[in-house]
Amino acid sequence: MKVLVINGPNINMLGIREPDIYGHKTFADLESFIRESARECGAEVELFQSNHEGAIVDKIQEAYGAKDGIVINPAAYTHTSVAILDALKAVALPAVEVHISDVDAREKFRQISYAGMACEKKFSGMGFEGYRAAIKYLAEKYGGACRS
Ligand code: DQA
Repeated sequence: MKVLVINGPNINMLGIREPDIYGHKTFADLESFIRESARECGAEVELFQSNHEGAIVDKIQEAYGAKDGIVINPAAYTHTSVAILDALKAVALPAVEVHISDVDAREKFRQISYAGMACEKKFSGMGFEGYRAAIKYLAEKYGGACRS
């Protein structure tokens, strides 16, 4: 199956930003991890990162008719973006929300997720493993792969 993995603002700063929360591994490490996770599940993966809300909306729209599922860490836009929520609803692809940190155990404003309202599953607080779990979930449910 074809999976689009979207990372939102500041995820490209992994390894530099707040290592006590997000760890010391870099964004390049995350990209390798995601590619390896997709390989394990026999999924074809495209990676996209942007610091811009509209660019993320555009990318979600492009997935329509081209991808079978979306894994998204909308980062700060999780808690603010109705536009990303609407884009996910518009393309109506199976979507899974991922957060590196445990958003529900942090500030109250992080406990609201707009994008999550269009996602069928959420993996939060698992570090990079959340991306693997999300790809595995989609591959098992929609891709006929990763069953063990
Ligand atoms: C995040 C959590 C968000 O609240 C935050 O704004 C991020 C990253 C995470 O992966 O834990 O940028 O989505």
